[in-house]
Amino acid sequence: MHGFSYQNGALYCEDVELDGLAEEYGTPLYVYSAGTIVDHFTRLDAALSGIDHEIAYAVKANSNLSVLRLLATKGAGFDIVSGGELFRVIKAGGDPAHCTFAGVGKTREEIVYALEQGIYSFNVESEEELRYLNQVAGELGVVAPAAVRVNPNVDAKTHKYISTGKSENKFGVDFEAIPGLYERASKELSHIRLRGLQMHIGSQLTSVAPFIEAVEKVAPMVRDLKERYGIEFWSIGGGIGIVYHGSLESGTPDWWETKSEEERPLTIEKYGQELVPRLKGLGVKILLEPGRYVVGNAGVLVTRCLYEKKGSAKTFKIVDAGMNDLIRPALYEGHHEIVPLSEPKSGERVKVDVVGPICESGDFFCQDRALPDFQPGDRVALMSAGAYGFVMASNYNSRPLPAEILVEGDTATLVRKRQTLDDLIEGEL
Ligand code: LLP
Repeated sequence: MHGFSYQNGALYCEDVELDGLAEEYGTPLYVYSAGTIVDHFTRLDAALSGIDHEIAYAVKANSNLSVLRLLATKGAGFDIVSGGELFRVIKAGGDPAHCTFAGVGKTREEIVYALEQGIYSFNVESEEELRYLNQVAGELGVVAPAAVRVNPNVDAKTHKYISTGKSENKFGVDFEAIPGLYERASKELSHIRLRGLQMHIGSQLTSVAPFIEAVEKVAPMVRDLKERYGIEFWSIGGGIGIVYHGSLESGTPDWWETKSEEERPLTIEKYGQELVPRLKGLGVKILLEPGRYVVGNAGVLVTRCLYEKKGSAKTFKIVDAGMNDLIRPALYEGHHEIVPLSEPKSGERVKVDVVGPICESGDFFCQDRALPDFQPGDRVALMSAGAYGFVMASNYNSRPLPAEILVEGDTATLVRKRQTLDDLIEGEL
C-alpha cells in the first residue's frame, strides 16, 4: 500500500491534503507518509517471520532524522555507508550495535568513529580494506567485527548503474576468493573477528529469480564459513524493487495493489515465500538491507507549474522542481508518475515534456508522456520519490534544498526546513 489517494477530488497523503501543505510550506516539497513506511517495514518483517532475522534499513535511501527515528522505534537496525550516516542514526536514537557499515572506500576517520561507537559489523569489500581495518583496530587496541561482501557474479537484471553483483562491478570480493580470504584472515588478522558474510546484487530488482540464484549459490558457503569460523550472520542485502509505473486514476488509486500478478512480479510476500525456505536451517541470523522498498512509495515531490511553453515540436510544462531536487530521471532514466493534486475530471490526455528550470537538457521528469492537462499555477506530485530523492538532491544552480514533511494520520510535521539563500553560502570564506 501507499498513503496517497484522491479524496473529494484532491490528492491526500494519509489524511492531509497536499495542496494545503504546498500552500503553507511552498514548493518544491517532499512529503512522506509515516503509515506507508511502517506498513512496508512491518510487512517485510512478517514475510521473514519464519527465520531469525533483522532488518537493517539502508539509510542512503532516505536519511531524514525523523524517518530514521520512526524506523528505530519499530526495531530497525541500520545499514550505513559513511560516518555521516552513522552520525545521523545516533542523532535519531538508533543503536550503533545494530548498524552495519558498507562501502568500498571507508576512511581511517570513519573506521575509528565506527569502532568507537561499537557497530555490529564492518561489511568489508576487499582484502586490502580488511587488513587496514585490522591495523586500525590494533592501534586502538580493539577487535573489529567484520563480514566480507561476496560478489556472487549474478545478473540482477536492473539498470547498469545500480547493478552490483557482477564480477565487473567494483563491489565485493570474487566468490572464488572468499574461502582463502577467510582462512588467511583467521590466521593472520588478530584484530578482526569474522562475524558474518554479506552480499548485495543490485537495486530495484523486479523479479525474485536473481535473489534465488544468489542465495542458492552462496548458502553452501555460509554453512562452511559458520562451521570453520563460527560466523553469526549472513546479510543478503537490499534491492527489492518497487512499482514506479501505474496511474492514480479515480477509483483505483493504489496501483501496487491493483496491478495483476504478472505486472508486479516481485511482491514482498513472494520474496519471503521463495527465500525463507532457502535460508532456513543455516543456523545464522539473516540480515536484510532494504532501502527503496521501505521508503520509495512512501514519498512524493510536490511541484508547481510555472509556465507552459509550446514549441514547434513539443509542449513543455516547466515546473519549479529540477533535476537538482530529484535526479533519478536524469541519471537512471527513472520513471516517476506525475499526478495533478486536483483530480482530473476527464480522461483527456496531452502529450508533454515536464521539465525543470535547470540549465541542462537532462533536466526533465518525463518526455512525450500523455498526462492529464495542468496549467501554470497548478501543482503536481512526482510519485514514488521517497527513496533516493531528497538524499541525492544538490544545490546545483544555487538552488536551496526543498523542505520535507512527514505525515502521520491527520498530522503533518515539518521535518526539514527549506534552505534559505543564506544557507547557500554558509561555510564559504
Ligand atoms: N545494501 C547495499 C550494500 C547497497 O549498496 C544498497 C544500495 C542497499 C543495500 C539498498 O538497496 P535498495 O534496497 O534501496 O535497492 N540511487 C539509485 C539506487 C542506488 C542503490 C545503491 N545501493 C536509484 O535511485 O535508483
